Amino acid sequence: MLGKVVVAILATVVIASLDVTSESIGETMEKHQVVPDIIDRAPKATLEISYPSGVKVDSGNELTPTQVKDKPTVTWNAESGALYTLLMTDPDAPSRENPTAREVRHWLVANIPGNKVDEGQILVDYIGSGPPAGTGLHRYVFLLFKQQGRIESNISVSNRSREGRIKTSARELIKEFNLGDPVAGNLYQAQYDDYVPILHQQLGGPPPKAN
Ligand SMILES: *[C@@H]1O[C@H](CO)[C@@H](O)[C@H](O)[C@H]1NC(C)=O
Ligand SMILES: *[C@@H]1O[C@H](CO)[C@@H](O)[C@H](O)[C@H]1NC(C)=O
Repeated sequence: MLGKVVVAILATVVIASLDVTSESIGETMEKHQVVPDIIDRAPKATLEISYPSGVKVDSGNELTPTQVKDKPTVTWNAESGALYTLLMTDPDAPSRENPTAREVRHWLVANIPGNKVDEGQILVDYIGSGPPAGTGLHRYVFLLFKQQGRIESNISVSNRSREGRIKTSARELIKEFNLGDPVAGNLYQAQYDDYVPILHQQLGGPPPKAN
C-alpha cells in the first residue's frame, strides 16, 4: 500500500518535471519571434509534419534543404465538418538580418476537409527551402487556420514559379480570407546546401538580387 503511494508520488514528480522541460508551440513561436514577425498570436496546437526523407519538423529544429525538398505529410486533430487553410511561409528572405523580401510563400492550401490536405485546393504549390548561400538560417513556419466557410480564391502558383510568392504576408492573407488566429503550427530552420541551386533552377533561375 505504502509502496503504491510512493510509486504514485514518484510518477507524479517525474511527469511534472517532464512537463516543465517541454515548451508549448506558443512558447516556441515567441522564442523564435514568429510572434510578432508574421503573426500577432501564436497557435495552441502543434502540427505534426513529416517529410518523405524521414525527418520531422520539431519546434524550430534545423533541417537541410535536401531533407525538405519534397512535400511533407501534415496532420492535426481536425474538427469534423470543418475546412482548413494551411500556409507555409519564410519571413527571412533574403536573410533574417535584412528581410527586404519578407515573406516568401512556400505552400498554401485552402478548403481542406478535416485534415485531408490532399483533398484541399492547392493555391500555391509546395516548394522546399531555398535560402541563398551566406544568408544564414531562415525560419520556415507552418500555420493552420480553421475557415469560417468555403473560400473562393483564384490564386494559382505552380512549383515552377516565383510569381505570387515573394513579399507576401500572412497577416494580409488572414485578412483577405477572414481566417482569424492560427489554430495550430510548427516551424523548422534551414540554411543553404547543394539542393538550393536545383530549386532555384526549377523556379526559373537565381533569385533577384537583394537590396
Ligand atoms: C483574381 O481575382 C481578382 C479579384 O477578383 C482579379 O482582380 C484578378 O484579375 C483575378 N486574377 C486572375 C489570374 O484571374
Ligand atoms: C511540381 O508539381 C507537380 C504538380 O503538382 C508535381 O507533379 C511535381 O512532382 C512537382 N515537382 C517538384 C520538383 O516538386
